[in-house]
Amino acid sequence: MQEKILILDFGSQYTQLIARRVRELNIYCEIHPYNKIPELTDNLKGVILSGSPHSVREENAPIPNLENIKGKLPLLGVCYGAQHLAYKFGGEVLPSKIREYGRANLSFVDDSHPLLKGVPSGSQVWMSHGDTIAKLPEGYKVIASTHDVECAGYYIENEDTYAIQFHPEVYHSTDGATLLKNFLVDICSCSQDWTSASFVETTVAALKEKLGNDKVVLGLSGGVDSTVTAVLLHKAIGANLHCVFVDNGLLRKDEFSGVLKQYEGMGLNVTGVDAKDRFYNDLAGLSDPEKKRKAIGKAFIDVFDEESNKIEDVVWLAQGTIYPDVIESVSATGGPSATIKSHHNVGGLPDYMKLKIVEPLNTLFKDEVRRVGKAMGLSHDLLGRHPFPGPGLAIRILGDITPEKVAILQEVDHVFIQGLKDHGLYDDVWQAGAMLLPVQSVGVMGDERTYERVVALRAVESVDGMTADWVHLPYEFLAKVSNDIINKVKGVNRVVYDISSKPPATIEWE
Ligand code: XMP
Repeated sequence: MQEKILILDFGSQYTQLIARRVRELNIYCEIHPYNKIPELTDNLKGVILSGSPHSVREENAPIPNLENIKGKLPLLGVCYGAQHLAYKFGGEVLPSKIREYGRANLSFVDDSHPLLKGVPSGSQVWMSHGDTIAKLPEGYKVIASTHDVECAGYYIENEDTYAIQFHPEVYHSTDGATLLKNFLVDICSCSQDWTSASFVETTVAALKEKLGNDKVVLGLSGGVDSTVTAVLLHKAIGANLHCVFVDNGLLRKDEFSGVLKQYEGMGLNVTGVDAKDRFYNDLAGLSDPEKKRKAIGKAFIDVFDEESNKIEDVVWLAQGTIYPDVIESVSATGGPSATIKSHHNVGGLPDYMKLKIVEPLNTLFKDEVRRVGKAMGLSHDLLGRHPFPGPGLAIRILGDITPEKVAILQEVDHVFIQGLKDHGLYDDVWQAGAMLLPVQSVGVMGDERTYERVVALRAVESVDGMTADWVHLPYEFLAKVSNDIINKVKGVNRVVYDISSKPPATIEWE
């Protein structure tokens, strides 16, 4: 069985980062809420306790039940985790006299200790805590200090239990990766064999076993997640995978035919469904963004349902859900109440479809999905595609949708995106697109007065779409693209560039 590290989450903003760092060392890990510890199986090599916005001194501080873990498995407490392990077993935790946020340097390091091998004195560490450990319980030994915090790291004698006040998962802790490696490889004895290639191998084997001769239907969108899902399933069950790719009339210019061709070239069994008219009909006259989204969602389900009904004896519905969609995180506002992010792909599937769900990517982060795609030989072109929203251009055309408006926006978008590619800027941008505004403005072309449409270009950098900043595209590039759009796209006489960050603006305009 795949070796595993368990990360218990106390609601820290950095918990997912811990998982990222563990996985970068080719070690598989899972995040679970501190109050929902999964069954401890033999493949579990160690446990990490995350930080938290809470204080151990609060009345309702989150308290895990570590009865079967502490002293029995290697255990590392980070920040709140460190404070909990001290406080709970008789130590003293007090409000810090000096609140430590940001950079600090280790003034004392016991580098003979296995946890700190290769971590030099003076090493920069990232602190983020309002409490400090004032006194350790008996049998606890300090192994690192900073100028302001005497107990920045400790271990418990005769136990595989370690703790640090700082955050090794944050890049600003310059030797954080070394420390985590010491814990995971030397102390937990993890073998670092979780790679993209091994993921493909074990997942394909598991899918074969799970699905047998069953038929599976999958909705392809042209995006990275659904494509990688399709290729993995195809490796496992071949022609029993039936893919459906719907043209909702809201895709980019030539996207439907181009992507369909690519899919067929990869040997996938794909049915392309031209449902443009159906979507345009359902959208006719709707201007409210939420009504538009709902109409598109409903039309998609109806079309998809019709198509899957044509596949005889289909049992499974495959989805490209990824790990951030399913991590159940402890809410920052506290208590055992947990927030579960909604599965963006699952939303709204009607019960009557009665299909079993298979989600082979639901343990992977986005960049891991890309690496898995690469390991299976998918092209950079496919894997490097910008995210594109399910409702497509409908949420970039402000107001009601008509085929004519879609055609204009497709042309504008094409000039912009092709321009980014031609100027080597596409890969530097996380997402880009154009918005068609519901206003007209006066212009002059030749000797003629024009009264035409305005488009806004948007290009953002982001990690996960939750926050974003506008990209400072070179002026020369913006000038050229603006010129090209106005000259090539009939009906547009003005181009503006969106310089709003998220928050407060969102990436899409609707
Ligand atoms: P916002 O506009 O909320 O977008 O800043 C954040 C990211 O989500 C995408 N997005 C969607 N994706 N269905 C999707 O599949 C939607 O309804 C939807 N709305 C926004 C958006 O393109 C960006 O990447």
